[in-house]
Amino acid sequence: MNTVKTVRELRAAVARARSEGKRIGFVPTMGNLHSGHVALVTKATQRVDFVVASIFVNPLQFGAGEDLDKYPRTLAADQEKLLQAGCHLLFAPTVEEMYPDGIVGQTRVSVPQLSEGLCGASRPGHFEGVATVVTKLFNMVQPDLAIFGQKDFQQLAVIRALVHDLNMPIQIIGEPTVRAADGLALSSRNGFLSEEQRAVAPVVYRGLSQISDAIKQGERDFPAVISAQIKQLEAAGLRPDYLEIRHAQTLRPATPEDRDLVILVAAFLGTTRLIDNLHLNLDATA
Ligand code: PAF
Repeated sequence: MNTVKTVRELRAAVARARSEGKRIGFVPTMGNLHSGHVALVTKATQRVDFVVASIFVNPLQFGAGEDLDKYPRTLAADQEKLLQAGCHLLFAPTVEEMYPDGIVGQTRVSVPQLSEGLCGASRPGHFEGVATVVTKLFNMVQPDLAIFGQKDFQQLAVIRALVHDLNMPIQIIGEPTVRAADGLALSSRNGFLSEEQRAVAPVVYRGLSQISDAIKQGERDFPAVISAQIKQLEAAGLRPDYLEIRHAQTLRPATPEDRDLVILVAAFLGTTRLIDNLHLNLDATA
């Protein structure tokens, strides 16, 4: 596996692969890779002939006071994992390579409705930062398909929308969240948890599962189930940011008549913000 740091080298390597008739798959990441990322790369190797991954901690998607500076940077270990997973090319640019004219005047991509609420409410500008960097990366790599984790459910919806709205000929694939044995969704931010916090963290997924089970059993008083679960999270020592039931395709607040639902949560455990979700299609599970 080759690692390149410039757009020029990236384009040359991808052009070589294309000239050999290869289909290109892309897995964008911010590094500090775990089994969830490895699953995305493995999936890509099954779908295309040439897999490109990127590692870039994108300053444009972090707000003031967020964890940009302490976000773990573990390039050597990440390279090893990508190599083992069968990745062919790693693009690991500097901030200057991605934003040569700085970020202030950078052209932005915004996906207005899907970016509002949920993570967009507590992280203003976050999805504009994600949409902008993903658009830039897509233009640099020009893949046939790109693979993202469903753990970032709202992000995946934003990316699907921008690809559709901007007529990008890229197939977007969402892969199921990879979880630890106790249900905690794998995340680079889990490394910030103390031993005690890590022991408490599975309560987040347990809460989602309880809501999902209640809905499957016919519960439709969404405000009541949500407020009971918020109390449960608080009792476990978390500070919920949001816990909501939305329509899985549009992300609008769910009505009792909806069949395709997603339950989404963000909650702070100490200073670490955990997010997770559970997709519940009542027609598929009936
Ligand atoms: O999900 C992530 O790791 C990032 O938001 C992404 C998609 C790589 C954009 O920086």
